[in-house]
Amino acid sequence: MKGIILHGGHGTRLRPLTHTGPKQLLPIANKPMSQYALEDLKNAGITDIGIIIGDVHPDKVKEYYGDGKKFGVSINYICQDQPKGISHAISLCKDFVSNDKFVVYLGDNVLRKSLVDYVKKFQNSESDAIILLCKVDEPQRFGIAELDKTLGTIKKIIEKPKIPASDLAVIGIYFLTPKIFDIIDQLKPSWRGELEITDALQLLMDKKNKIEYDLVTGWWKDTGTPEDIIHANKLVLDSIGTENQFLIDADSTIKDGVVIGKNTEISTDSLIVGPAIIGENCKIGPAVKMGPYVSIGKNCILKNCNIENSIIMNDCTINTETNFSCSIIAHGSEILDSKTEENKFLLGERSSIQI
Ligand code: TTP
Repeated sequence: MKGIILHGGHGTRLRPLTHTGPKQLLPIANKPMSQYALEDLKNAGITDIGIIIGDVHPDKVKEYYGDGKKFGVSINYICQDQPKGISHAISLCKDFVSNDKFVVYLGDNVLRKSLVDYVKKFQNSESDAIILLCKVDEPQRFGIAELDKTLGTIKKIIEKPKIPASDLAVIGIYFLTPKIFDIIDQLKPSWRGELEITDALQLLMDKKNKIEYDLVTGWWKDTGTPEDIIHANKLVLDSIGTENQFLIDADSTIKDGVVIGKNTEISTDSLIVGPAIIGENCKIGPAVKMGPYVSIGKNCILKNCNIENSIIMNDCTINTETNFSCSIIAHGSEILDSKTEENKFLLGERSSIQI
């Protein structure tokens, strides 16, 4: 079986973070979100992986994953010139897939449960597709499956229904056979100009092919918006362990599952409450209160601030007596006290700041 990770799209809802790279490289608990997909595939024995790269800094994806060797997989890159839809992206993989069954994994989806059981089930199945369904609170935001409960089959799949027939969202992991390529060839772009995956699955069913489903246990997160990313960070940190490669000052306290990287120093009068993760070579303190649910990248300097439920990427400096909550601060940002200077901002498009 082969694996395909979708790494294209424009990530407009995540601007300005996606002006400088694809959203799937944004870190959740200090790891690019698409790496969770790659590791899920690998742990289920799928090591022949195609990555669809789009037109938002595809070079950064190639630079990070390379030929896949250091992640224990083999990677082929497939270019999608514009985000013309998930089905369009899948159609570009025809040669790569050849006659194999395959799994498509949207690079911005994170799933708690491993893929192992689903992959086994699909390997032994006669079905033309298996989709995974997850109960959601706002079904209007998702592709929704209507089930025939007596037959135990899927009746219909509808993209973002105004009046949803169920609360079961079709999540972004699809088990498919090469039959899907003929189906996609017959699709017309939707009102938003995309070849939709929900239309492909519906047509696959309409043509009397067999689609099975499975219900996802544990959580699943689609990380399209900043709030989704903060939530995914919380969910991932909830299951993080502890690691102790840090230097801690006697006046500081660390509580509950905190992972701390090499050469990181925690100094005077600081309190770190887990779950949290701090990368290598950081200087935390004095007087930092951090956590719960905070991810700090490598080489950060943090002083005098309170941070909870937030993501700070690599190489950031924060030195200000301010409370941060539900914040995402991208690589190389600086937030300094204005007591001695005028406020000085350099903010990208759609930045958000409250003082
Ligand atoms: P979306 O979240 O639907 O689209 P997007 O990433 O462009 O974001 P936004 O709506 O904020 O502009 O995409 C779902 C996933 O599929 C995501 O991982 C990107 C990927 N994708 C492609 O690779 N190619 C495509 O043509 C599309 C539409 C999405």
